[in-house]
Amino acid sequence: MMGEMQVARSVADLRGHVAGWRGRGETVAVVPTMGALHAGHLSLVEAARAACDRVIVTLFVNPRQFDNAEDLANYPRHEDSDRAILGPRGVDLLFMPPVDEVYPQGFATSVKVEGLSRGMCGDFRPGHFDGVATVVAKLLLMTGADRAFFGEKDWQQLQIVRRMVADLNIPTAITGCPTLREDDGLALSSRNARLSAEDRAIAPALHRAMAAAAQRLRAGEDAAQVLAQARDQITGAGFRQVEYLDLRDPETLVPLDRLNGPARLLAAAWLGPVRLIDNIAV
Ligand code: PAF
Repeated sequence: MMGEMQVARSVADLRGHVAGWRGRGETVAVVPTMGALHAGHLSLVEAARAACDRVIVTLFVNPRQFDNAEDLANYPRHEDSDRAILGPRGVDLLFMPPVDEVYPQGFATSVKVEGLSRGMCGDFRPGHFDGVATVVAKLLLMTGADRAFFGEKDWQQLQIVRRMVADLNIPTAITGCPTLREDDGLALSSRNARLSAEDRAIAPALHRAMAAAAQRLRAGEDAAQVLAQARDQITGAGFRQVEYLDLRDPETLVPLDRLNGPARLLAAAWLGPVRLIDNIAV
């Protein structure tokens, strides 16, 4: 039988649990989240369970990665239902620290991953990736996990985390897990809950336009033209603005103007008050 999920709110308590497991020679996985859990997060939990003896889920809405106070205030918070969802999933420990446990008075350190943090979401959300890199470094060091699981939906974030872990010699193996989608193609996201019924019907146009563009790129069509037409399709479907729609190297994120090997198509677009992101392999 699965043990009951424990909850830790302090780093000392978290480390106490981990020390007990380590003492028995058990391996530890962590799934960092900001809560408002959906099936995408649960797929990360599944992968974590399959990989390690013990699974920690962290739930922390990290103020440092929000470039906009309104977005932070509006970010969905469902602590009770998140706990209920995780209960039967074989999670050993839920780490839910208050903000001042993570950023106590006098906190002064920031982790910045140069290069990869520029462009795309980095340009449109100033400081966002410094906040992500800082909190992920802290969560990996607090938990001391052997392995950590992240969704590919946040592709740029995933590459930044990989680079940071390598650069800082953090001994945690990073695994990216595929994006889960609704039947109509919309990538699962905590932000989807904020779409009106009308916008929810428009939302799959983003993935549809990207999938069509990827197919044309694979067929050898000119990237600039394909991307411009895909942008028009997205706004034509009812999106307010396309922030970026870029073809990039999957690991270095260097922009590509033609397809000459593995590539990733990445986008962010506004639908009403909601900013959606997506990415696919080309
Ligand atoms: O992807 C997320 O939910 C967040 O950026 C993360 C990795 C939990 C850091 O706050």
